[in-house]
Amino acid sequence: MANTNARILSTGRAYPEGVLTNADLEKLVETSDEWIISRTGIKERHKAADGEYTSQFAVRAAQQAIERARIDPSEIDLLICATVTPDQILPSTGCLIQAELGAHRAAAFDLAAACSGFLYGLTLANQMIRGGQARYALVIGAEVLTRYVDYTDRSTCVIFGDGAGAALVGASEGDERGILGTRIRSDGRYAEQLYAPGGGTRLGITADNVNSGQHYFRMKGNELFKVAVRSMADVSREVLEEAGYKGEDVKLFIPHQANQRITDAVANNLKVDSGIVYSNIAMHGNTSSASIPIALDECVEQGRISEGDLVLLASFGGGVTWGSVLMRW
Ligand code: ACO
Repeated sequence: MANTNARILSTGRAYPEGVLTNADLEKLVETSDEWIISRTGIKERHKAADGEYTSQFAVRAAQQAIERARIDPSEIDLLICATVTPDQILPSTGCLIQAELGAHRAAAFDLAAACSGFLYGLTLANQMIRGGQARYALVIGAEVLTRYVDYTDRSTCVIFGDGAGAALVGASEGDERGILGTRIRSDGRYAEQLYAPGGGTRLGITADNVNSGQHYFRMKGNELFKVAVRSMADVSREVLEEAGYKGEDVKLFIPHQANQRITDAVANNLKVDSGIVYSNIAMHGNTSSASIPIALDECVEQGRISEGDLVLLASFGGGVTWGSVLMRW
């Protein structure tokens, strides 16, 4: 099975029923619908209820992808759950999802690369399939970010939402379809641009640390903005050039949904037509690792992707991490 292409065979998505609108946020912090829409493009975001947790959405998204690929869960060799909001510290959310799905033959684990987690996972799945070590790989991005959001901090609480997306990746032997190129990067020198100091071994899980909100996300949005635009555009251009393509050749561009202004700036930088850039930020906000697989599933459902289309994915997230994947659908 060596030298086969890997391609996404099917997708799925799920999110909580609960929705937090800009009007709801106006009641919590000093902000306005107008400010949020003009600075981010976000109108509402899904928010998990008390008692809901990450793997529940991951399992629902994964089940859709598995059903659509018409395979049995026992055929899955690799299960990657990209998340920074796991169900619990041990075992991995990947293993919990594996048990729920009945994917008993898979190697399951979590991957922490924030908003780039799905593209990191897709890159690993691609290599395992191309190397003949996996026939089917399930790559999931799933988050309940709102659990780590401080609803007194207006600079972060308007941004994040919850959800999950999944892609079933399989071998695509002897045809032109599949993943043409991947590139993933990180730079830990920018770690403090988006981070949560508490919740791990560095600051113990003490009442003091929890009460002072050490587990909440902190973000230097303005600085991230500039790095995000530059990194996503550069890495996408590298992947395109390496595969012999230009921005003009792309039929669908799905960037990580972080902020509408970031999306517009990256698209502009890459010279891709605005009509082929997908955005769902208005309805979901930033769902970190879930954003790209959710968007991909929506594009499939809406008939925005046809067989043979060149599809470009790009991400940027805490770490900082970034990456790009180019595929022929
Ligand atoms: N409502 C009203 N005013 C606000 C709000 C709010 N929700 N949030 C911030 N402000 C104020 C600030 O206090 C500031 O006021 P001041 O000028 O009096 O000090 C003013 O608005 C401007 O603040 P900026 O931070 O400069 O606003 P900016 O235009 O940069 O928008 C935002 C902020 C939306 C966070 C933007 O920087 C952004 O989206 N950055 C990227 C963030 C991102 O992508 N993060 C995630 C990447 S990684 C991942 O996805 C996990």
